[in-house]
Amino acid sequence: MKFFADTAEIEPIKELAATGLLDGVTTNPSLIHKSGRDFMEVTKEICGIVDGPVSAEVVALDHATMMKEAEVLRKIADNVCIKVPLTVDGLKTCKALSDDGTMVNVTLCFSANQALLAAKAGASFISPFVGRHDDNGFDGMDLISDIRLIYDNYDFDTEILVASVRHVTHVLESAKIGADVMTAPPKVILALFKHVLTDKGIEGFLKDWEATGQSIV
Ligand code: E4P
Repeated sequence: MKFFADTAEIEPIKELAATGLLDGVTTNPSLIHKSGRDFMEVTKEICGIVDGPVSAEVVALDHATMMKEAEVLRKIADNVCIKVPLTVDGLKTCKALSDDGTMVNVTLCFSANQALLAAKAGASFISPFVGRHDDNGFDGMDLISDIRLIYDNYDFDTEILVASVRHVTHVLESAKIGADVMTAPPKVILALFKHVLTDKGIEGFLKDWEATGQSIV
């Protein structure tokens, strides 16, 4: 499963990229606002840190303006992935851009039928929002299972990008279901490394090693 960082903050992206385990980045207008940075500038900087897809979202609601915005965004770097909302105009834009060889991430997906439409429109990624789904009394992971089943039934190439990830259990469940990608805030990705018994084990080994009086280097 690929790991994308869901942030527009440069430092955590650099920290995660240095692990060699970061496959891409997703941003949205709220994350750009939170970063306090200029959209074009920060997107270009992120594209220079990671080799994989960096999602940059259009903000227009109509197809013609979405296409104009996409034209500007895709010139930022070769690894920019245009993010469009799951609306009629968003999917028209997805189809036009995909036919033209541009990577597209269809966002704000809350049903398996919407995911089916995005795959038919040639999306590179579909972003079902599991956390927001849970917040509204549904089971976000059921949505991922349904999309996996449908995409496998028809051999769609669209990758399932689990979004709105809130905790490590979302990551575990996504991997068990066979999602292609998950995007999470850096703190959730860093939490995946942690286990109290790992820390305790290191502490015990180091104490005993010190008692031997030896050194490796
Ligand atoms: C990513 O592509 C989404 O925009 C993001 O995961 C949404 O997360 P949130 O529900 O925590 O805002």
